[in-house]
Amino acid sequence: MKPIRVALLGFGVVGSGTYNVLLRNQSEIVRRAGRAIEIAAIVDLDTEKVKAATGGAVEVSGDAMATLSRPDIDVVIELIGGYTIAKKFVMAAIEAGKHVVTANKALLATHGNEIFAAAREKGVMVAFEAAVAGGIPVIKAVREGLTANRIEWIAGIINGTSNFILSEMRGKGLPFTEVLKQAQALGYAEADPTFDIEGVDAAHKLTILSSLAFGTPLQFEKAYVEGISSLEQADIRYAEELGYRLKLLGITRRTANGIELRVHPTLIPSKRLIANVEGVMNAVLVKADAVGATLYYGAGAGSEPTASAVIADLVDIARLQSADPRNRVPYSAFQADQVEDLPMLPMDDVKTSFYLRMRVADRPGVLADITRILAQGSISIGAMIQKEPAAGEAQADIVLLTHQCIEGDVRRAISAIEALDSVVSAVTRIRLEELA
Ligand code: HSE
Repeated sequence: MKPIRVALLGFGVVGSGTYNVLLRNQSEIVRRAGRAIEIAAIVDLDTEKVKAATGGAVEVSGDAMATLSRPDIDVVIELIGGYTIAKKFVMAAIEAGKHVVTANKALLATHGNEIFAAAREKGVMVAFEAAVAGGIPVIKAVREGLTANRIEWIAGIINGTSNFILSEMRGKGLPFTEVLKQAQALGYAEADPTFDIEGVDAAHKLTILSSLAFGTPLQFEKAYVEGISSLEQADIRYAEELGYRLKLLGITRRTANGIELRVHPTLIPSKRLIANVEGVMNAVLVKADAVGATLYYGAGAGSEPTASAVIADLVDIARLQSADPRNRVPYSAFQADQVEDLPMLPMDDVKTSFYLRMRVADRPGVLADITRILAQGSISIGAMIQKEPAAGEAQADIVLLTHQCIEGDVRRAISAIEALDSVVSAVTRIRLEELA
């Protein structure tokens, strides 16, 4: 069979990994795909860098538009990142009738609906396994492996940088800013590290997972996003003492009133497998009605792990290229005319548990005032810690865990607690999920 010919746009960490893995495992890949996959051209602004790395074995160009529209190209791999140039090239590739493979979660989360519509029109595939959780084949699992199920919820550690930071803060007792510098030096962080630490990168990935799980349009703009930059050592230690671990989780859940789509620091029981995912590793826990809970774990970033996902997409395209477009796996798991614009649940209506920490004056009646406010908001306390004040101090930390309650009730209760004279700090509020 004729080889499938590929234009590779972007020769950075993932692009070079894709080139190397394809070269190294070519014969194994051909045995699976039934045909060779050939990189016909690599496009990068730094053509000298690519020439040096490939030793002249591949045509190198700085002109993406000219390359992607060449008649001999079947597939365009977009590994540039960002929303502007990448979008222009992806749309041009589709317009030219090329199949597209992309690792670009930001692009899909924000422009995916438009990209899929254009691709459907042209009858081409858009594959994006590498966009979520790097090398973990979680797109394939959610879109195809779990197709018999009604998916109930997904909770994932889907940003390696923030997981690395939280692991180091817990393991070594280091402050946030110091660990962030380490993560940047190790090359884990996105070009703009605020995407990692403020939850944006995780929200891009969660948006994609949510759409695949529930058959809804991609709606990144409706995601609730809160990062890890204001977390303190004290919260990691108190969480530990109460049997919980602090993770940046992406959570999407189908409820009777709408879809939850939220990324925020979350306490989860230390005994859960997912609580023990450390460093830059990713894990996605999917709860579905027939299979129950399944957990997908592995490298969420990096050159060859992400290349593994890119090449899996290439093999899918090689196998399905000649199939009638109507018989291919739909872009977002559900048939296009079955995508439902379900309402998104406002954060104030989300039901979850909470960790609340506050510093109070150590005098009679303080705890009674706080518990009265919580009771008035129908917020039930599940656990509590109060430490004796240090010698000579007249203030103490109180830490409370609530049972499940409505976020809006907790927000109002926090305002009332912070208004008490006896409460001398802002209330630290972290959501808690049992993931049972
Ligand atoms: N910056 C991302 C992370 C890797 O830390 O997980 C690519 O998605």
